[in-house]
Amino acid sequence: MSIKTIRGNLLFWKISGVFTALLILLGIAYVIMASFISKKYFYEVNQQLYGDIAAHLARSTQPLKNGRPDTLVTHDIIHSIMVINPSVEVYLLDQQGKIIDFVVPDKSVKQNEVNLQAVQQYIREGGHRYIAGDNPKNPDEKAIFSAAPIMENGALSGYVYAVLASEKQAGVLGALKSNFFFSLGSTIFFATLIIALLVGIITFFLITDSICQIAGTVIRFKEGDLTARIEGHGKGNLGVLTSTFNEMADTIVANMEKITATDRLRQELIANVSHDLRTPLAIMQGYIETLLIKKDQVSASDQSKYLGIIHDSSQNLARLVEQLFEYSKLEANQIVPQKEPVAIGELVNDVLLKYQLLAKNKNMSLQLEAPSHLPQVFADVALLERVIQNLLDNALKFTAENGRINVMLRANPATVEIAVSDNGIGIPASQQPFIFERYKQLPQVEGTNKGMGLGLAIVKKILDLHQTVIHIKSAPGSGTTFWFLLPAI
Ligand SMILES: Nc1ncnc2c1ncn2[C@@H]1O[C@H](COP(=O)(O)OP(=O)(O)OP(=O)(O)O)[C@@H](O)[C@H]1O
Ligand SMILES: [Mg+2]
Repeated sequence: MSIKTIRGNLLFWKISGVFTALLILLGIAYVIMASFISKKYFYEVNQQLYGDIAAHLARSTQPLKNGRPDTLVTHDIIHSIMVINPSVEVYLLDQQGKIIDFVVPDKSVKQNEVNLQAVQQYIREGGHRYIAGDNPKNPDEKAIFSAAPIMENGALSGYVYAVLASEKQAGVLGALKSNFFFSLGSTIFFATLIIALLVGIITFFLITDSICQIAGTVIRFKEGDLTARIEGHGKGNLGVLTSTFNEMADTIVANMEKITATDRLRQELIANVSHDLRTPLAIMQGYIETLLIKKDQVSASDQSKYLGIIHDSSQNLARLVEQLFEYSKLEANQIVPQKEPVAIGELVNDVLLKYQLLAKNKNMSLQLEAPSHLPQVFADVALLERVIQNLLDNALKFTAENGRINVMLRANPATVEIAVSDNGIGIPASQQPFIFERYKQLPQVEGTNKGMGLGLAIVKKILDLHQTVIHIKSAPGSGTTFWFLLPAI
């Protein structure tokens, strides 16, 4: 059995068990209350119905003569009443409540007096309220009664006391009660129980089933199934739980992907860096060792040539390290551009001056095409200089000797366009989308390329910081133009 089923069943059975116990208790309480209330109701009805019996006897017969019971007459009348209503038992009481005569089905009277308090209250209230009094045949149980005073010559000489719920009635009632209440109670109880149980169990099943599904998905996610998401349950508390879990899972997965990507980047970086730094380092080490070991055998001109190579390599190494450092700072969002109005024409002129010598060495023409009046642009001057340098580096690197490099500046209504174009080897359209990725270098120029493939990635990051993008127009063999816009002020 799976964890899901075990947990689901346990919760379901617990709730169902408690619910069933509650229903049983309710059923029992119902039977007890129904029995008590209906008994009281029966007594009240009886007392109201037959309450006149005592008064009738006291009035129509003269049960006491000179304070003594006139048994002959009264017994006859009482017997005829008892034939009609067998639940009646009649007692004659003296003024103190002592039983001086009685007519009951058997002679088993266990009490010889009746407490007059209830009798007097009954007479006072005219028998309108349910009152229980002594039952001389059964002293342990109170009974409903009818009572009336017996008057002789205008004075009280005793009471007629008629117990209305006689033993016979109690017997009949008991038999009926056990039958009637049991069947009534149990029918209602079982019907209610079965309906409530069915409704309850279906409800509990639905609730616990939803919880089980949710728990199952959470367990699947915990055990490594990162695609596990809770489906359905869009509303209510379960809906909140569901959407919160799903959002949480999405966040966890996104974070994991980010961590994995960062980790991959770090591995790539280490591999690239170690590879790119090793080349100039190896060159430097080789020449330094030669100079150290064979110092005397190496001519003075070779020595200065070797030192020149070492110098170039160390510069190359410094440039690589600097570029790497710059890129990682940009990647980590550690560079905040200090934007200010920049005279773009002057800036480009200054940069071109530094590149003139390099261009001349390769027999290249390096030109600036710019209108005499250009608006200033809003940019970080050092970062902008880095962009132009990187584009010029590439133009020089990927253009053959005798080539031509042009930098063009043009004023648009709200922007200034900066373009660097060459007539070098060009970039196939299929590769153009990828050259701005870090470490991306095209295969055909590998080997001749001393860079790390970071130049254009740095350009893109810097232009991102200026909320602008770099565009490219290039075709293999006919050259490349990179251009971008900066806000004019
Ligand atoms: N002007 C260009 N002409 C032809 N190919 C280019 C030009 N500029 C860039 N590329 C291609 O795009 C690739 C990426 O350029 P990027 O400047 O990012 O790297 P890189 O110049 O190789 O190395 P780094 O700039 O780090 O020294 C280059 O390797 C090259 O293949
Ligand atoms: Mg480059």
